[in-house]
Parts: sequence; structure tokens; C-alpha cells
Amino acid sequence: MERTLNFDHWARHQLDAVEAALETWVPEDAPAGLGEAMRYGVLDGGKRLRPLLVLAACEALGGSREAALRSAAAVELIHAYSLVHDDMPCMDNDVLRRGKPTVHVKYGEAQAMLAGDAMQALAFEILTPDEGVEPVLQARLVRLLARAAGHAGMAGGQAIDLANTGRMLDEATLREMHRKKTGALLLASVQMGAACGSPTPATWQALSVYGEAIGLAFQVVDDILDCTQASDKLGKTAGKDQEANKPTYVSVLGLEPARRYAQELRAQALAALERSGLADVAALAAIADKVVEREN
Ligand code: IPE
Ligand code: IPE
Ligand code: MG
Ligand code: MG
Ligand code: MG
Repeated sequence: MERTLNFDHWARHQLDAVEAALETWVPEDAPAGLGEAMRYGVLDGGKRLRPLLVLAACEALGGSREAALRSAAAVELIHAYSLVHDDMPCMDNDVLRRGKPTVHVKYGEAQAMLAGDAMQALAFEILTPDEGVEPVLQARLVRLLARAAGHAGMAGGQAIDLANTGRMLDEATLREMHRKKTGALLLASVQMGAACGSPTPATWQALSVYGEAIGLAFQVVDDILDCTQASDKLGKTAGKDQEANKPTYVSVLGLEPARRYAQELRAQALAALERSGLADVAALAAIADKVVEREN
């Protein structure tokens, strides 16, 4: 597998484009301070892992840059909206996100709820321009993102999370929760990027296995970092899972087994890339490494 890419250089270049796109597309002038709250929630922060996945998958297939950049911004908006709502008092009740006070702390709960709603809607607006992306591809991208964000994905997983706070889950149910609440959007990021090109069924299948594996690994590592890392490094309050009595990979498996599981998922992801038939998967491979080795 080609692994000579200078990933940091590649990522910086991609993220400049993503930041510029979000800066342009997330409006300042939405009424009554809504635009300010939306921009606060999505600009200048976060690792932007989902946009990187979209762009890496698209590049591996030589797909449409315009469609991929729109997809990258859209998936980040859905993710950022999910964080705004996840932090609200009715959910995880967090005051720190991306190193700043959470949106509801800064703008109030009602505005945070509306900012999340508006970010979600904007994601789909960005995916459906008058020109520049073929209508059939637009519909495909909208469907992939809607499915991953809604009841079968993130929102469904968050419902399982809230329903099981304070309870112990068996590993299979925990895996299902993580696949939905976090994995679905990461898988969709890979699939949206792939859809911007013309993947064969075998390539689609392999990239989907890759996306599922890193999607699950991502939340396993999130659970690990919550109890091993400091708040200033995380940019969010550490130790919240234990405090809130959340079932996590650490509470269910233990710290070392959770670490081993994340490594196993990385190996699964890399093996899937080998099977993808794609010539250049260096960026996707580097992202799999980042997901597991990250410190925040
Ligand atoms: C945090 O996601 C929430 C989860 C889905 C686990 P990230 O760790 O990707 O958060 P940002 O985007 O970098 O802030
Ligand atoms: C959140 O999971 C997943 C989302 C869909 C936002 P967490 O509740 O563990 O995310 P953090 O730790 O607050 O970022
Ligand atoms: Mg949560
Ligand atoms: Mg949370
Ligand atoms: Mg967490």
C-alpha cells in the first residue's frame, strides 16, 4: 500500500478549502443572532475529520471536487449541529466544546436548539446547488447524509445513549449504539466521498467496511480519551462519561481491552483498503491511524 504521503501537508491544504467553504456558506446575517450562533458552533474548531474523510475518498476515486467540497461542508455541519445539541442540558449538559463555552452557555438554550436546527437544514441546502453537481449525484448525497443523521444513524444512536445512561449494556448493544451515534456519520463521509467518483461495487464495499471500522473505532477512542486525557487537551470536559454513568467501551470492556479493540478495528480498516483495488489510499490509511492514535 502506498504510504509515502505527507499527511499533515495534505490535510492542511484540504482544511483550508473546507474552512473557506464553511466561512462562505454559513451566513452571518441570519435573523436575531442566529447566524452568529451557527458560526460559533461550526467555524474555527474541531479536527474536521469527517471532511477529511470525504475529500480523501473522493481523491482516491478521482471524483468531482465540487461535489466533495459541498459534501465535506455538509457533513461537518451535521456533526457540529449534533455536538451543539449533545452538549445541551437535556442531553449531556456540557459547558466546554472545542476549547470554548458551548453554544447554549454562550447564546442560551433556545438559540442553541435553533442553531442546530438551522445547521442541519443548511447542510442539505449546500448539497443541492442549482449547478455544479449532477442532480442524480445530489440526490444520492442527500440520501446518504440523511440516513446517517436520522433515526437509523446519529439521532437513533443518541436516543439509545440517553435511554441507557446509568445502565450497563452488553457489548453487542453498546456496539450498535456507537455504530449509530458516531459510526454512521463517519461511514457516510467515506461513502459520500466515494459517490463523488465512480466506484465499482467491490470498491464501494471495501470502502464501506473501512468506514464502518474507523467509525466504530472513533467512538471507542472517544470513550478512552474521556477517561485518560485532560480537559484542556480534549477541548471538552474530561471524565464526563463516568460522572454521568454512561455505558462506554471502557466501562464495559475495561481500558486495555478497549485499546486493543481500537487497534483491531484499525487493522480491519487497513485490510479493507488493501482490498479496495484503489491505487492511492495513503490519505485514507493515514486517517485510520489518526483515528486510533489521536490524543484529542
Ligand atoms: C466528538 O467528535 C463527538 C463524537 C462523535 C465522538 P470529534 O472528536 O470529531 O469532535 P471535533 O469535531 O473534533 O470537535
Ligand atoms: C456524541 O457522543 C456523539 C454525537 C452524536 C454528538 P459523546 O457524547 O461521547 O461526544 P462528546 O464526548 O460529548 O464529544
Ligand atoms: Mg453524548
Ligand atoms: Mg457528549
Ligand atoms: Mg464522549
